[in-house]
Amino acid sequence: MSMIRKLAEGVYNVGAIDWERVLFDEIVSTPQGTSYNSYLILGKDKVALIDTVEPEKADQLFANLEELGIERIDYIVSNHAEQDHSGAIPELLEKYPEAKVVTNAKCKGFEKDLLHLRDEDFIVINEGDTLDLGGKTLKFVMTPWVHWPETMSTFLLEDKIAFTCDFFGSHAATTHTFAEQYDRIYHEAKRYYAEIMMPFRQIIARNITKIEEFGPKIIAPSHGPAYSDPKFIINAYKEWISPSTKNEALILYVSMHGSTKKMVDALVDSLGKYGVEVKVRDLIRSDMGEVAIDLVDITTLVIATPTMLAGPHPQAVYAAYLANALKPKVKIVGIIGSYGWGGRTVDILKANLGALKVELLEPLLIKGLPKDEDYEKIDEFAKKIAEKHRELGVMK
Ligand code: FEO
Repeated sequence: MSMIRKLAEGVYNVGAIDWERVLFDEIVSTPQGTSYNSYLILGKDKVALIDTVEPEKADQLFANLEELGIERIDYIVSNHAEQDHSGAIPELLEKYPEAKVVTNAKCKGFEKDLLHLRDEDFIVINEGDTLDLGGKTLKFVMTPWVHWPETMSTFLLEDKIAFTCDFFGSHAATTHTFAEQYDRIYHEAKRYYAEIMMPFRQIIARNITKIEEFGPKIIAPSHGPAYSDPKFIINAYKEWISPSTKNEALILYVSMHGSTKKMVDALVDSLGKYGVEVKVRDLIRSDMGEVAIDLVDITTLVIATPTMLAGPHPQAVYAAYLANALKPKVKIVGIIGSYGWGGRTVDILKANLGALKVELLEPLLIKGLPKDEDYEKIDEFAKKIAEKHRELGVMK
């Protein structure tokens, strides 16, 4: 089955669409599937392919190349060594033995390790280098940490297209060449940012500037649709990485017998009373990708857990660990829950949140089912969060 998507004269997406994929890297949920975009650039003299596809989907790439009658590829430009983009390179080199892999020195090193490519397979380029294909000129720009240290972008100068690989991508299986369903794509691009890019948000700002300075007419990532309106995705990224947060608290909870849930319900009511917007997620039943999206711009995170086996519920530990690893710009963290006879719930959660630069509120653990005086403490807890939101200027 072939599916060729034309971006401009002599520029085609010949990559693969993966409708069935539900999990990425065995952790990241992809409810809309994904695509591995591979871009063919036909110069007058040379042919280049920018990024390849997940190896198990290579048949789609080869069918597209056959459909276009491509008998020779001169350059395989590799923006990123992760196998969903580089994995088909060995098979491509077998079918197109004259091709050279064009990438930076760091990416070359990774691909020698990950794909067992040889030194002679590569042409190594540096920041700002160009490659003339005949009327189509590629320029290579280093955009590290979106999301590995070797990641780079490739600009097609004449057509003003920025090929950014994972950067600005979205896990969305679609036959659309360009983003059209903007609400849906915004959500999937935000999921992609939350799960993959958020830990590097401080560095991303510099990379956004590099892309903006090029002034692209099209941004073509290697997952999801391309953007014929680059400002849409650039502005979304600027919003997500900006230091400002929303007047929102996210409550992630587990409850075994309902006591912690009663605390959560009371906290939601009180936060509403004091003017804080709330989102609640049951950690046993929630898609953790949605939790990651929620983390992007909240001010306060509350983890609510019963004490079991002398500590927090394991799913609460996982949520804390994930939040710690994703490094959202959250400012306030609270821990609440019900216990039977004691344990190290707070210590264990605190240890898993150590990388976040946050203010930890005085934890609120209560014994058994909440009593009247406990509900007063929960109300005080909510009031404290509201005060912090006001001090931080996120709530009037
Ligand atoms: Fe889409 Fe980092 O690979």
